[in-house]
Amino acid sequence: MNAILRPLVTEPGVPAAEFRSAMRHLTGGVSVITAGRGRDITGMTVTSVTSLSIDPPTLIVNINRDASSFPLIKRLGAFGVNVLNADQLDIAERFAGKGGLKGVDRFCGSNWNASASGTPLLVEALAAIDCEVEEIVERHSHGIIIGRVREIRSAARNAALAYWHGQYVAIDHEEDAIRMAQVSVPSQRRSRPGK
Ligand SMILES: Cc1cc2nc3c(=O)[nH]c(=O)nc-3n(C[C@H](O)[C@H](O)[C@H](O)COP(=O)(O)O)c2cc1C
Repeated sequence: MNAILRPLVTEPGVPAAEFRSAMRHLTGGVSVITAGRGRDITGMTVTSVTSLSIDPPTLIVNINRDASSFPLIKRLGAFGVNVLNADQLDIAERFAGKGGLKGVDRFCGSNWNASASGTPLLVEALAAIDCEVEEIVERHSHGIIIGRVREIRSAARNAALAYWHGQYVAIDHEEDAIRMAQVSVPSQRRSRPGK
């Protein structure tokens, strides 16, 4: 008789701390996801926004299913993505729940307008994007939300707020231009052999 041997532990068993520490090397642009209408609104700070396709214009955001934004996004089928600028650290902290702020109280102290769908969009955001939910894939602790872009409001500013190794970092196109050039010149040479 042929015996089929299976390992007792099916998961590779990577410790969570090791995974977290590897992910800290990823630099993420900081955005605030907004959800709801009127006074029934909330939002959260995220680094998980990624563009999915240009045609049609779609993006993805991964949010914890326990976050207060998740049931609202699911129920209303709409959400906003507000890409923060380098001066909006306080907004990032409010929407990450600092000081125990919840729901509509997180919106105090900054300027918001409602999109056509009624979702709050941040007036001074680098980009404020109104999305309609195309699909939500619920996997493990999180929901992968695919949004179809319905409206975009952009600012002229070019200084972004990023998150890297557990801290906020400002990236300013003007101030950091020389350092960015030093990084990009050798990589351009590498990608064009023979030139
Ligand atoms: C820089 C930063 C990035 C974050 N990125 C995410 C993310 O991508 N997805 C997520 O579910 N939570 C993320 N969080 C955590 C949420 O912002 C936080 O849990 C928030 O309080 C959830 O909202 P709630 O309190 O209304 O449930 C991030 C927090 C910080 C500080």
